[in-house]
Parts: sequence; structure tokens; C-alpha cells
Amino acid sequence: MHKVIFDTDPGVDDAMALLFLARHPEIDLIGITTAFGNASIETTTRNAQYLKQQWGISAPIAKGAAEQYEPGRATHPFPAYIHGDDGLGNIGIPDVVDVPLDPRPAHQFIIDSIKANPGEIVLVAVGRMTNLANALKAAPEITGLVKEVIIMGGAIDVPGNVTPAAEANIHGDPEAADAVMIAPWKVVVVGLDVTLKTTMTRQTMAALARKGGKDVELLDRLSQFYIDFYKGQVRDSMVVHDTCACVYLVARELFTTRSGVVRVLTTGIGEGMTVQKPDGMTFGTSQWDNLPSQLVCTDVDAAGAMKLVEETLVRQ
Ligand code: BDR
Ligand code: CA
Repeated sequence: MHKVIFDTDPGVDDAMALLFLARHPEIDLIGITTAFGNASIETTTRNAQYLKQQWGISAPIAKGAAEQYEPGRATHPFPAYIHGDDGLGNIGIPDVVDVPLDPRPAHQFIIDSIKANPGEIVLVAVGRMTNLANALKAAPEITGLVKEVIIMGGAIDVPGNVTPAAEANIHGDPEAADAVMIAPWKVVVVGLDVTLKTTMTRQTMAALARKGGKDVELLDRLSQFYIDFYKGQVRDSMVVHDTCACVYLVARELFTTRSGVVRVLTTGIGEGMTVQKPDGMTFGTSQWDNLPSQLVCTDVDAAGAMKLVEETLVRQ
């Protein structure tokens, strides 16, 4: 069993990832921590509460930071044109959802859970890396106690999606992402290099909804706005960014990876760019020296990944 804390900014593709984690038989979802990104922290937390309620998920939710890792850093507008004003495709979610939150802030929940389960917890982070960086700052010793950190974020050998250089989750809090990449724990970067290859058509989603009952019907409904956004890029389909990172957790044989130190550019026109120094390549002295190597995904068996996603979403 993989014990998972899911750090997320729901978000349409986050919602699919949450249902995948909740339904996969080898995953024990022990906590949900919320990040801001696709919408404000109030909205993404309310959305996590709503999805927990609708899908009968038992994992507690801890609310994350409302601001970036570096105090006072300029913020970017939320992408309402991708996820809707409510972050979940404008389907009409109540303003307040009566689902209690864990009393701790997300980073403290992460620290406490890792310390209570040494060597066992995988952090799957699919929003800005703010909560993870705050946890590292408050308790650097967790790096030796966590099993693995799998992130959806970055664009290593491909262009970004917010700027030509940067992917959204990294661009939204570059200092946090850099802190996560250079910490002495095992990070796997599931970025646009692979996530843009994992797509689901509107038709397939509708077919899954017919098979999967009311839970998948909700996913289908909330995904329509997002599919409308992506349909120009991938024919009448949605890009399955965040679930792709969850697939890595249970089916890593579907991915090709490359090891090397990863840094994040925090200023200038390349702000938010993720750059790997592949192991074995030699350069002059650089700010990539003497840091831990991390794995980046460079390719994926997309058909295999999507088969697993489809099978898992309709499991009862
Ligand atoms: C990432 O940004 C968010 O919009 C998505 O939920 C995903 O985590 C893709 O760049
Ligand atoms: Ca996300």
C-alpha cells in the first residue's frame, strides 16, 4: 500500500487525480492538503471539502498557505479561464461546504504525518509547491523521513504553458519549487514533457460517467469547462496533468526518467523555468553543483497510463 498525502489546488484535473487516488486499490490516501493556484486558497479548500463530501472520502483536509513561500512576492492572476471562476468548471458549488477541516495548517499536517509514519509517506503535490517548502523550512529533518515526493510541475525539455519558459505550478511559486528540488529527498518531476501526452476525450469521459455512476458523472460535469479550454490544443479532450503524476506512483514502468540536479529560475524572463543538469554531463562551476539528483520524466506510455486511469476511475 502506498500511503499518500495529496497536496492539491482543485482545479478540474486535480479533481480527477483525487478520485483516482481514492479509488486505486493500492493507495491509502491519508491526507489532503490544499494549495492556492487554480483559485484562491479559500476556493480550492472549499472545493476539496466539496469533493470529499460528494465522493465519501475519509482522508482529512488541512488548509494550505494563502501566500507564496517568499513573503511579499508578486502574485499572478488565477486561471479562471481554464478551471472556471469556482475552480471546478462553474457547476454551481455552494459557497460553504459543511465538512470540517483539520485544525493544523497544511505544512504542519505534512510534518506531523511524516514523523508519525517514518519512511512510509509519499507526497504527491500537484499545485504550487508552497506547502512543501513551508514544511521543509519548519522541519528540515522530514527529508530523511519521507519515502518520496512526486510532483506535477515543470517543463524540462519542452516549452512551458504560462510563459515559453515556465509551467504553471512552478511559475506560481518559483522559490518554493526550487527549495523542493534541491532538498535532500527523492523528488520525481512529472512535468509537461509527459502530462501533455496523457489526454482524455470528451467522449471517453462521458462513457466513463455512464459506467462509473454518480461520482464519475460529477467528474464529467465539472470537466466540461476545462475540456472547452483545451479542445483547441488537443481535439475535444482534456489534458490529464495531475492524474499523470498519480499514475507514476503505481505504474512507474510506464515512464522514462532521467536523473540529474534540477534548479528553478526565480527571476528574469525565465522565471519559473525548470532546468536539469543531467548526471554524467560536465560543465563549468554552476549553481547545479553538489546538490541531490532528482528524477525527471521525459516520456510516458500514454496509452498504458490512460488505460489505468480509465479502469481506476470506474472501480467501485
Ligand atoms: C498544472 O496547473 C494547474 O492548472 C493544473 O491543475 C496542473 O496542476 C498544469 O500546468
Ligand atoms: Ca493542480
